[in-house]
Parts: sequence; C-alpha cells; structure tokens
Amino acid sequence: MNRRDFLAATALSAIVPTFGLASPAKTLTAMAAKVQLAPKDFPPTDIWGFDGSVPGPEIRVKQGARVERSFINQLPQASAVHWHGIRIDNAMDGVPGMTQTAVEPEQTFDYSFIAPDAGTYWYHSHNRSWEQVARGLYGPLIIDEVDLPDVDQDITLMIDDWRLDKSGAISNDFGAMHDNSHGGRLGNFATVNGKADSIYPVKTHERLRLRLINAANARIFQLGIKGLNGSIVALDGMPLETPQPIDLITLAPAQRADLIVDVVAETGGEAVLYMQERDTSYALTDFEVTSQAAGAKRESITSLPPNPVAVVNNLSNALTVPIVMEGGAMGGLQTATYQGQELDMRALVNAGQVWALNGVAGLTDEPLFRVSRGEAVRLSFTNKTAFPHGMHLHGHHFHELGPQNQMGALRDTTLINPRETRDVAFIADNPGKWLIHCHMLGHQATGMKTWIEVK
Ligand code: C2O
Ligand code: CU
Repeated sequence: MNRRDFLAATALSAIVPTFGLASPAKTLTAMAAKVQLAPKDFPPTDIWGFDGSVPGPEIRVKQGARVERSFINQLPQASAVHWHGIRIDNAMDGVPGMTQTAVEPEQTFDYSFIAPDAGTYWYHSHNRSWEQVARGLYGPLIIDEVDLPDVDQDITLMIDDWRLDKSGAISNDFGAMHDNSHGGRLGNFATVNGKADSIYPVKTHERLRLRLINAANARIFQLGIKGLNGSIVALDGMPLETPQPIDLITLAPAQRADLIVDVVAETGGEAVLYMQERDTSYALTDFEVTSQAAGAKRESITSLPPNPVAVVNNLSNALTVPIVMEGGAMGGLQTATYQGQELDMRALVNAGQVWALNGVAGLTDEPLFRVSRGEAVRLSFTNKTAFPHGMHLHGHHFHELGPQNQMGALRDTTLINPRETRDVAFIADNPGKWLIHCHMLGHQATGMKTWIEVK
C-alpha cells in the first residue's frame, strides 16, 4: 500500500458514523505555553498559542462545510478569533467592538460558519493583535477543494518572524511607538510552523502543494524555492486563472501563496524554501530528498477550480472611494481627526495615533461608506507614507486592478509600497460591518483602519 492509498483508507474509516455518540463540541483554547522556538541550547520560549501550540492546530474542512469551534479564553487578557480571508457571516468575523464583544478571560464564544471558498486561510487573534499575534496566537485554516488536485503531499508552511531577546524569550516591547511609526514590529528570528529548522522528507519527482502563509506582525517576506520546480496556483486562497511561474514571491503580513511544485533535486540534493533579504538568502524549510518516487513524470500543472466569488463586470458604475494613506515617521502628516477632534501630530502621538486614512485616525462611529448589497465598489488607495502597507478588507476578496483597469488576482490583502497607488474592485455582497486596515498590526493599532457597511 503506498502512502496515498493509506491516507485514503484512513479518511474512509474516519467517516463511518459513530451511532449513539453525540460528538462533543470542538474547542479552540487560547492559552500560555512553552515551546522550543529557539535552537536547543536556549530554554523553551513562553508563548500564547491556540491549544498551547504555535501555530495553533490546523483546522481543515471541505469547501462548503461548516467550521465550528467553541473558543475558550485562558489568557490573562480579553481575546477574539478572526478567520482571515473567509467570506464569513459578519457575526462570526471576530472583531471586538464591531461584530462581538471581546471574550474575557475564562469566558467562551462559539464560532460557527460556512467556508464558501476552497484555499489557504488562517485564523488569528483580533484583540490587541499587535501583542497577541506577536506572542503566537494564530493557526492555519485550510478549506479543501471538493476534488483535490493530484499531489503527493500537501504541506502548510506558516511563516513568522519573532522578536526574541538574548535569553530566547519574546521581547515584551509590544506596541513600541518607534516600531508603530516606522515599519512595524520586525522580528529577528524566523520560523516555519514554529520551528527554526523545519524539515520535510520528500522524494525526487514527487508533486507537492505548498501553502505559504505569512503570520508575521510586520515582516514582508521575499520567498524563493530551490530544487523544486512549479507554479503559483493561488494567492490569498483564491485560484489564479493561469498558474504563474515562481520567481521571488513577495508576501506581506497575512498574505498567502499556494504553490504546486515537483521535486527536481536528486536524493541527498538541496531542496529548500528560502527567504531573501537584500543579497543574502536564508533557508527556512529543508525538503530532505530521501529517494526517488516510482512512476513517470506528471502532467503539467493546471489551474485550480475557481471559487464562487461574484464577478465585477462593469467598473464604470462602481462606487469609487479614494483612500489616502498618510502619517508615520517621515510622512509629513500635520493634523488628523481622532475621536472627532482635529489634532496636530504631537497631540496625535500623545493619543497613541500616528497613521490616518483620509485624514482620520482610527475608527469612527460612522463607516467610511455604506453600500447596498450587490453593488460594485472600487477602492482607490494612495500611499503617501514612507512605508509599505498591506491593506486588508474583511468579509470579501477584491481584484487588484492593473493600470488599464484589468482585473488582476483576487486577494484579501494588497501590498502598497511608498508613493504607490493601487485600485481594487469587488462586489459588496456580504452584509455587515467590515474593517479595512493595514495588516502591519502596529499600524492598525495606531490609526490605519476604517470600516464599511454593506446593507
Ligand atoms: Cu487578519 Cu483584521 O485581520
Ligand atoms: Cu501599515
């Protein structure tokens, strides 16, 4: 029996009904734990993790199925779980103060939602996320296609960078204003799936699906592969119409890329996922080539089946909303409105705010705009700051628009570099109150967020 047959057999036995046994509610517990993040000569690191691990457990269902988790908060702080990239029922979106009240210590909240789209998603704390995500409160959420693509291994690679001190502890300078007003909380220690030295055994000619997820607070990763050959088949969960060749893949915080690759390295040869920083590359994950797979070469890589996302047919009647991003160090912001008051930069900083969208820092009682369900919306971002920002919309995916308004990839987070503009378009078909914010989590906390309402 080969490995795939064996997995198929276990999957079959797993769906034999267990008569008479009410299945207990599945839980997801945010708790403190110790894990060996740093190399073995360091002591284990105190983290906060879902079910005490980092990443949290991989939650996996078929497309169209329901995800149910009773969230239990065993942290000393209030928390909430956001299911990033899922076109979710608004009440389950996990945004304290907007879609639910924060879950206090020792309290619970039952999350239950349908996952309409196949692909690679993730979940993370959405309360004090600049601290809670930095401590490890995130995990992968994988929605399987109804017909799975033909691969030998499906490997989730959740990438983070941690800020550790010399003792291997997480540096507790969360929310430092210098970070928040610059590029955010950048770390000094990269992990994949909570390990500095992640290793996966593979065979030459095996076909792998690699699901890359950037869970970092602020680090934009440049990722490459060696000894593997294939295509990008999805971004932010959504299949690309045409698979793209893999050069360096830029992933802003919260962004994902699904790759389908064939192992081309020979037994004992080098096959790696690496990160590129200026002129240097660092291996993040080693694929240890143990032997050669039996069987012939595979067919060429084809695109994944599209998800049922409403199509933007006509941009000319879209509601067009400019979003000007300002502030931060070297940004020249003079004044912004915060909680209804116009403040100068010094007063803003005293209030813990340094970024603004359309001249407003933080959330307001009224949304940026209201739109009726089914209308096309075009957001027109202009980054007037000195830093890149990964702008995320809740509850929807949008198309990045090209210079001639071509519909680009469907994404839930778009990276906008300094002095760049980016237009995105989507059909506002998911009713509720939805955040738009920078996914550099310290930027979000210090002003770079707003919200919209779909009625
Ligand atoms: Cu992944 Cu509002 O966030
Ligand atoms: Cu930002």
